Amino acid sequence: MRTLLLALIAALVGALAAVQVTAALRERDAYPRGVMDVMAMHAGALDQALKSRRCVADVTKDHFGMLVTMSGEIPRAFPDLMPDKEFAKFANDAHALDQQIAAEPPKDCAGLQKAMAQIGEHCDQCHRIYR
Ligand code: HEC
Repeated sequence: MRTLLLALIAALVGALAAVQVTAALRERDAYPRGVMDVMAMHAGALDQALKSRRCVADVTKDHFGMLVTMSGEIPRAFPDLMPDKEFAKFANDAHALDQQIAAEPPKDCAGLQKAMAQIGEHCDQCHRIYR
């Protein structure tokens, strides 16, 4: 009886620990995913602006501003990957490109198309290896 009770308690403690570990893992992933999802949302809005040919800075500048902010969060969101020199370079390059574009937002659709192609390439080159 006593052994059975102990086994039961052990199983219960194990189950509780498993729940806690799962919750911790989910929480750890929440921030990097959040950063990426916010970035995807604003990149998507810029693609949409291009599709509907509303390419002026008034429409796009806030989205570019958010891309600057969020790409600047990549080092904080992925602390485990930052020691990897290539990852850190991709993160820095993406942030620098976003800053450069946001400082002088495209004035027409040709410019916006070029900017989005460059930004998309930066997303892809990091994802190809690290996602
Ligand atoms: C420096 C590297 C890097 C750059 C640059 C980068 N990403 Fe990511 N991205 C990642 C990694 C790593 C993951 C996987 C995160 C995970 O699953 O925890 C990811 C995941 C994602 C996801 C999935 C998130 C989820 O909820 O699972 C989206 C969407 C995304 N990125 C969008 C973008 C967009 C849009 C850009 C460019 C504007 C971009 N990323 C630029 C590294 C990068």
